[in-house]
Amino acid sequence: MDFKIRPARKEDCKDVSRMIMDLAVFENVADQVKISHEELERDGFCQNPLFECLIAEVPEEHKSKDGFTVVGYALYFYTYSTWKGRSVYLEDLYVMPEFRGNGIGKGLLSKVAEIGKEKQCVRLQLSVLDWNTVAREFYATRGALDLTETEGRHLLRFEQLNMDKLAKGASKERSFD
Ligand SMILES: CC(C)(COP(=O)(O)OP(=O)(O)OC[C@H]1O[C@@H](n2cnc3c(N)ncnc32)[C@H](O)[C@@H]1OP(=O)(O)O)[C@@H](O)C(=O)NCCC(=O)NCCS
Repeated sequence: MDFKIRPARKEDCKDVSRMIMDLAVFENVADQVKISHEELERDGFCQNPLFECLIAEVPEEHKSKDGFTVVGYALYFYTYSTWKGRSVYLEDLYVMPEFRGNGIGKGLLSKVAEIGKEKQCVRLQLSVLDWNTVAREFYATRGALDLTETEGRHLLRFEQLNMDKLAKGASKERSFD
């Protein structure tokens, strides 16, 4: 199938927002999505963007049954490893179900790797849900290491409440006085 991959533009944020929700539905966590397309526009298309995004687009004649030509996306940003240096983190990779198996996912992933290399990143990292065997296989066949298996790493997060508690502690410690 004919498709092209290009950097997202501000006006793509509605499509990206739609697919973020599709991905969350697929992962059974739709209730967790709080972000709006306006926030994506603000955070991705400002002077110092917090993320970059690639879009997969098909020609009008191949549009989805619901009339969409933007059919996949990869959203990523840059991180830093104290062991290895510049790194790129793939937050989301998604292709609409009716377009899967056409090389779009591979195309998006390869492009993120290419862009990362251009920016001197030495590694590409991501997390994947345990039960998502299709995606785990997709990454494994392309050489991704499973750090949970090889290094026993756990993925941790402070949600807002506990982050607030930590932040309150900081003001009491007066560490910058
Ligand atoms: C994982 C995902 C991005 C792959 O996208 P894709 O466009 O189907 O990927 P490709 O066509 O490049 O490759 C898919 C692989 O599955 C095979 N495949 C064949 N038909 C397929 C189909 N109908 N659906 C899915 N995969 C199919 C392909 O041959 C290919 O195998 P390979 O690894 O041997 O090359 C896509 O399945 C997806 O969006 N899944 C739901 C969201 C998700 O899991 N995202 C990753 C979260 S970290």
